[in-house]
Amino acid sequence: MNQKLSEDTRNILGLQLPTDPRWVNLAEIQLEEILTDHAYCEQKAALTCISLIQKNFDKELLVDELSPIVTEEWGHFRMVIAELKKRNLKLGKPRKDIYVNKLITFQKKDGSPEQRFLDNMLIMALIEARSCERFKRLSEGMDDKYMRNFYRKFMESEAGHYTLFITLAEHYIDKKIVRKRWAAWLQYEKELMKSEEVRGDRIH
Ligand SMILES: [Fe+2]
Ligand SMILES: [Fe+2]
Repeated sequence: MNQKLSEDTRNILGLQLPTDPRWVNLAEIQLEEILTDHAYCEQKAALTCISLIQKNFDKELLVDELSPIVTEEWGHFRMVIAELKKRNLKLGKPRKDIYVNKLITFQKKDGSPEQRFLDNMLIMALIEARSCERFKRLSEGMDDKYMRNFYRKFMESEAGHYTLFITLAEHYIDKKIVRKRWAAWLQYEKELMKSEEVRGDRIH
């Protein structure tokens, strides 16, 4: 692979723990499962952006920036559904998202509205970053060239989203506070990744 990565994608490498290399091989042999999980990740991303717009209706930049992301994430959902259909595979049931549920436990529940807003932005940035990293692994490690290209498109797109959530956090909150909390999130996510079993039927 000598295609250049965008700056956004290179920034993702700030994640503290790279994905276990065995994961790609496990995912590759469970395509129906991984595509199903991926489809629901995209759906949840769209839904969360809608809910963030509702909660932050008075933040003009956020509303302007997240509105097109809803469309984009929904487009991703449709791309994954189309891929399933093309391969005669079925969209499975929605599943519990263990990774995201564990991340949510790190959110400040009783903090100030500002702290809660910051965590809402950073949890999204983190999920986008890890998704991007996982898509990067798939785009580099899968045997099927078509699938490598398929995931490459998602990789670049999610990297842009990661950057957007950080930018939004820094627009509304002091940069130093954002950086400090981001470092804490990265540390927490590293421990979480370490404790999770490697399973090929999940994007995270
Ligand atoms: Fe997406
Ligand atoms: Fe995204």
